[in-house]
Amino acid sequence: MIVPAILLMVCGLSGAIKKGDDLVKNRSFSIDYVNNQFVKDGEPFRYVSGAMHYFRVPVHYWPDRMRKMRAAGLNVLETYVEWASHEPQPGVYAFEGNLDIEYYFELAQHFNLSVILRPGPFIDAERDMGGLPFWLLSVDPSIKLRTSDKSYVTHVEKWFSVLLSKIKPYLYNNGGPIVTVQVENEYGSYSPCDRDYTSWLRDFIRQHLGKDVVLFSTDGDGDGYLQCGKIPGVYATVDFGAGSNAVESFKPQRHFELAGPRVNSEFYPGWLDMWGEPHSTVDKEDVVKTLDDMLAINASVSMYMFHGGTSFGFTSGALPSNTYTPCITSYDYDAPLNEAGDPTEKYFSIRKVISKYLPLPDFPVPVASPKAAYGHVHLHYVANLWDLLSTPIAGRPLQSTYPMTFESLGQANGYVLYCTQLRGHFPDPALLEVKGLADRAYLYIDMEFGGVLSRSGSLFSIPVQATDNQNLCLLVENQGRIAYGTGIKDFKGLTSNVTLNGHILSSWTHHPLPFNETGSLEWLNKIEKKRGTPIKGTMSLFTGSFAIQRNESDLADTFLNLSGWHKGVAFLNGINLGRYWPVQGPQVTLYVPKNFLKAWPSKNRLILLEQDRSPCEKNELGCTVEFVANPVLNGDTPVKKRSTKLFKKHV
Ligand SMILES: *[C@@H]1O[C@H](CO)[C@@H](O)[C@H](O)[C@H]1NC(C)=O
Ligand SMILES: *[C@@H]1O[C@H](CO)[C@@H](O)[C@H](O)[C@H]1NC(C)=O
Ligand SMILES: *[C@@H]1O[C@H](CO)[C@@H](O)[C@H](O)[C@H]1NC(C)=O
Ligand SMILES: *[C@@H]1O[C@H](CO)[C@@H](O)[C@H](O)[C@H]1NC(C)=O
Ligand SMILES: *[C@@H]1O[C@H](CO)[C@@H](O)[C@H](O)[C@H]1NC(C)=O
Ligand SMILES: *[C@@H]1O[C@H](CO)[C@@H](O)[C@H](O)[C@H]1NC(C)=O
Ligand SMILES: *[C@@H]1O[C@H](CO)[C@@H](O)[C@H](O)[C@H]1NC(C)=O
Repeated sequence: MIVPAILLMVCGLSGAIKKGDDLVKNRSFSIDYVNNQFVKDGEPFRYVSGAMHYFRVPVHYWPDRMRKMRAAGLNVLETYVEWASHEPQPGVYAFEGNLDIEYYFELAQHFNLSVILRPGPFIDAERDMGGLPFWLLSVDPSIKLRTSDKSYVTHVEKWFSVLLSKIKPYLYNNGGPIVTVQVENEYGSYSPCDRDYTSWLRDFIRQHLGKDVVLFSTDGDGDGYLQCGKIPGVYATVDFGAGSNAVESFKPQRHFELAGPRVNSEFYPGWLDMWGEPHSTVDKEDVVKTLDDMLAINASVSMYMFHGGTSFGFTSGALPSNTYTPCITSYDYDAPLNEAGDPTEKYFSIRKVISKYLPLPDFPVPVASPKAAYGHVHLHYVANLWDLLSTPIAGRPLQSTYPMTFESLGQANGYVLYCTQLRGHFPDPALLEVKGLADRAYLYIDMEFGGVLSRSGSLFSIPVQATDNQNLCLLVENQGRIAYGTGIKDFKGLTSNVTLNGHILSSWTHHPLPFNETGSLEWLNKIEKKRGTPIKGTMSLFTGSFAIQRNESDLADTFLNLSGWHKGVAFLNGINLGRYWPVQGPQVTLYVPKNFLKAWPSKNRLILLEQDRSPCEKNELGCTVEFVANPVLNGDTPVKKRSTKLFKKHV
């Protein structure tokens, strides 16, 4: 996504901070340990902040969302910085469009919002590999992430040198909005507990940002977390959710910071969702009460999330609960501003509480933006898995004796088709074992679908009927790398040998199917309808085009209803909207912001990559999707109880 120049002009931002004016003000931001407060320009300062990740909200909507956050009475905005997005390949940096963090800082300043910056390098945030770039595992498979391991530190050094030099001019003391900077992220929950690493990171940040910048750390509200999370010279803060006893929950912070302001750096007004587990909601009354209790004792609070947004594309991660549980595409989070940026009842209740403590700006009260139900789009079946192998969509095939991981193939996300020719005489049936599967595999023998294996379902073996010379293939899907804990070194694909009847299978051909370059998908738009019908269990591609009888200014956000489809990925006008899996739930619709759509008379192009089963196997007329005006995030799920408690994932 690219920011059109016009947007910058509309917002009246010339791209530069008014440094002259600000210097006159003699800006300063610090901690007053005598009066247990922050001090901004010599005045006591307390913040009520909200998290909005720039990488989860279309850049066109940043001004709208920030205005609404300011209108709720917030005086600070919080975001992580995601290394993986900014350095997709070693030494290749991206800071444009949706990754333009400087624009984010400038907009925040424009809306009189200060910024709490959490640059990681590890961030969790339910992102693929907790925001670390996958290629760390390609360059050094034995790398020790989040430790003082030379190999890891060398890459952090390079990245942080680039990042911190961009951040420095935006520090509060330098005329920008950034008041505090977090070191690492909930490090006290990470078992290696390498204090040399956190001290090194602290010093590296100070060396680049200057000695005056207020650094902080965040950990769970227990002495056990702070024990390792506390970094000398870095202000320790805690996190806890709605329904907690505010006075009690701040006590652990006091055990490690004898004086200074109470700070909850992640107050959870909602919670995240995983595929196959019920939608989480957090009671508005609990949020209001805990927030009020915290503000009443002068605490500074940052709400995680205030606006969650969407994990577009393949960016969402997975939780290590039940060994492996992938997160959904939506990051609505039951937050005060919902996924589409509309204020909820919770928003207004929170605004009311904040108004008791901070002045509300003289802004109009936000209302929900219009949504559109553009209706049904008919889709054509154009290709299947086997057709793709000879097109630009598939990467160059690679041979090796034993299976290679995505990381050793240099592939971040998507799928890899692993194939081998069987040699020998096997019992009927024989057991195929795929112990190192990450994360989901479709088995084919001579191109015929033979079943699904699944890491999240702990299904790692399957009986097969196979004979000499037959071709055995496994299409392996990466469902997102684990986002936190000791499992973040989450190699994808076939991570150990595959055996048939106990014998190791060798001589593999790898067909990369990364679906990361929208240019290659253009090829699908050129081809006509495919003959025959899609086959269950065989990846099938569908395309459809539609025009919207509205001009640019009349376009509205919408939701793609995938009810009736099984599991896959949707692409609109070359943008990956994210993974869908309505049969697993709870998410049934995908959010489509209006700027992803084209106005009349242009045609919009939709591509569905369906892995399992389409509604058109028997009935061509059923080959449709529908753009609807309301999201469905609370669909039915196979599991009726969540595998983790709300607000508990520190391990
Ligand atoms: C700026 O702040 C410093 C330190 O707080 C103070 O010594 C100095 O007098 C201030 N300058 C102005 C122009 O206010
Ligand atoms: C920011 O604050 C200044 C000074 O209080 C005010 O004049 C200005 O209108 C505010 N800007 C916005 C966008 O609220
Ligand atoms: C909160 O701040 C006010 C004003 O500085 C002070 O009077 C009060 O004692 C503080 N309350 C707590 C619980 O620290
Ligand atoms: C897409 O993935 C391939 C490897 O699978 C990689 O070489 C290429 O650079 C990636 N392209 C983009 C745009 O990330
Ligand atoms: C696969 O088996 C071969 C032969 O026993 C062995 O050398 C290799 O390390 C194994 N690979 C993995 C990933 O376990
Ligand atoms: C867009 O369409 C609306 C309603 O049809 C109309 O009122 C408006 O003038 C149009 N705007 C432009 C720029 O054509
Ligand atoms: C989504 O589609 C299903 C099946 O056609 C339908 O029953 C459901 O009402 C739709 N949901 C919305 C929000 O329109």
